[in-house]
Amino acid sequence: MNITTIKTTFIDLFQTEPEKAFFAPGRINLIGEHTDYNGGHVFPCAITYGTYAVARKREDQLVRLYSANFPDKGIIEFDLKQLDYVKKDNWANYPKGMIRYMIEAGYPIPTGFECVIQGNIPNGAGLSSSASIELLTGVLVNGLYQLEISRLELIKLGKQVENQFIGVNSGIMDQFAIGMGKQDAGILLDCQTLSYAYAPIKLENHKILIMNTNKRRELADSKYNERRGECEEALPQLQQKLPIKALGQLSEEEFDANQSLITNETVRKRAKHAVYENVRTIKALQELKAGNLVAFGQLMNQSHLSLRDDYEVTGIELDSLVEAAWKHQGVLGARMTGAGFGGCAIAIVANEEVENFIANVGVAYREKIGYDADFYVASIGDGAKEVELEAVR
Ligand code: GLA
Repeated sequence: MNITTIKTTFIDLFQTEPEKAFFAPGRINLIGEHTDYNGGHVFPCAITYGTYAVARKREDQLVRLYSANFPDKGIIEFDLKQLDYVKKDNWANYPKGMIRYMIEAGYPIPTGFECVIQGNIPNGAGLSSSASIELLTGVLVNGLYQLEISRLELIKLGKQVENQFIGVNSGIMDQFAIGMGKQDAGILLDCQTLSYAYAPIKLENHKILIMNTNKRRELADSKYNERRGECEEALPQLQQKLPIKALGQLSEEEFDANQSLITNETVRKRAKHAVYENVRTIKALQELKAGNLVAFGQLMNQSHLSLRDDYEVTGIELDSLVEAAWKHQGVLGARMTGAGFGGCAIAIVANEEVENFIANVGVAYREKIGYDADFYVASIGDGAKEVELEAVR
């Protein structure tokens, strides 16, 4: 979707010019899945698909929001003094929650504002459109009122929205990637300490393809919370013998030697994934830095297998896409990305094979699943930021 009309929509709706413009990206995760809430490592990057906003301060206390992606919802309006979750406010609960927690964190927002947003992140694809709106709201309010809230604080507030306002017990990866993203770089983040380092993504003559299963992520949130609960069950059992605070502190050997402390077999498999995936993520960064792209791709493949067999968050759609990708020539690696249960996978594909890949994997998917997948070439872009008003139309 092209962002072409956001400024004119604003002028049509609010009969005045916007003051400022902002952008927040979506994200993909290269490797390190379901490790963030286990105190492990993740390796995501921000993509150039994302959400734009144009906004203007008001004189009163009203916030009036319109999304060009949900025109049937019209302008959603609320008062700065009434910031409770309201189901019918739909997508606007994300900005509302963000505003609420910014105020509660001690950043007074003096007036309301009006705002039009428009995103080009494929809908419901697990590329973090919700975290994108959270951080977009963060940089927008920060920028309109010059509140000077640190980036890390905005990231933590975004996570708080997801956890407390929306009720998904997610980790910090999405907000961090979207808040801290940098062009052409991945971010290795230690989710226990929040220390992080950028790593240039040099894929030589390869591209990152995003493959959207177009499977609606039904039940995804409750399944997500269930997986998190299983990991929380495993930890105290391991702590009977091991002085650890999180699964992400264990090596594979330590886990193997102590896994019998976990009584339930399913819970044991979940914990195994968390430990092994964390180790894989650190290895993957080393391989990437050393230019060993083949080894990097193999770690991606192992990640998918572990998410399929031990963590059980893939499903027929993601598995069919990824398995078709593995069979294709010119592919270094492929795996699901994000929470799973539908949504997107990624593949690293040789430039000269991209076209064939899209055609062949597309056909294989349609034959098996009965509807189309979508393919996008990913560009790695910057994190959430103010953009020139002149740069949006
Ligand atoms: C979702 C969550 C993240 C992370 C991933 C799985 O995207 O929002 O915090 O847990 O799933 O890696």
